Amino acid sequence: MSRRKIIAGNWKMNMTPSEAVALINTLKPLVATEHADVVFCVPAIDIIPAVEAAKGSNIKIGAQNMYFEEKGAFTGETAPSMLTDAGVTYVIIGHSERREYFGETDEIVNKKVLKAFEHNITPIVCCGETLTQREQGVTIDFVRQQIKIAFLNVTEEQVAKAVIAYEPIWAIGTGKVATTAQAQEVCAAIRDCIAEIYDEVTAEAVRIQYGGSVTAATAAELFSQKDIDGGLVGGASLKPDFGQIVNYDTFKVVDYQ
Ligand code: PGA
Repeated sequence: MSRRKIIAGNWKMNMTPSEAVALINTLKPLVATEHADVVFCVPAIDIIPAVEAAKGSNIKIGAQNMYFEEKGAFTGETAPSMLTDAGVTYVIIGHSERREYFGETDEIVNKKVLKAFEHNITPIVCCGETLTQREQGVTIDFVRQQIKIAFLNVTEEQVAKAVIAYEPIWAIGTGKVATTAQAQEVCAAIRDCIAEIYDEVTAEAVRIQYGGSVTAATAAELFSQKDIDGGLVGGASLKPDFGQIVNYDTFKVVDYQ
């Protein structure tokens, strides 16, 4: 089966509400495509103006995090119903920065994934190894464990709609992009893992992104791999380059050398 590509920008903690509107207005014509889903995952405070600014375009607005409770005494957190009411359709769950700086465990990731599905928000579930893990040869074991726990008690219908982002931590924000072969190998292993837990049909439906220093120059080769269904893009999603990444299939890098 052919899976529809999904290219998401992760703005991280960048852009004030007014900057967000300006950036969306700049990028809107550049990311127009019928060939892929395009998602901008913006800071929580930017969501409402971003949804407004993206109206009438192909851009969907996503959140970068969400709490796993419905409401109540959880100071500083954002509830799933707040996101849906504001027009959010995607949420990044378990980004490595949240795991590293905010103590998110695989168990928390699982609770958030379950809650996102309950509210019909598509989770973009992040996984990926550290440099030490890669050097020790435990990448695939580690990523499989992250995936198995993230999707505990998630039904096959739900998993089929999920997006998984494979982001090797050593490639995030470092300019060090994984080789196409490294990215494809782990994305294929993730699909195999889903097939083992669920079945082949479910595994074929799941969309798996690569993330980590994706640029306009590397997107086309990465996204044309068998098991790579698009990307989760940090730094380059804040620039006009994001238009070239989204239109990777028609954009050509000219080599003047
Ligand atoms: P990067 O970030 O593209 O800046 O490496 C990717 C991410 O963290 O999602």
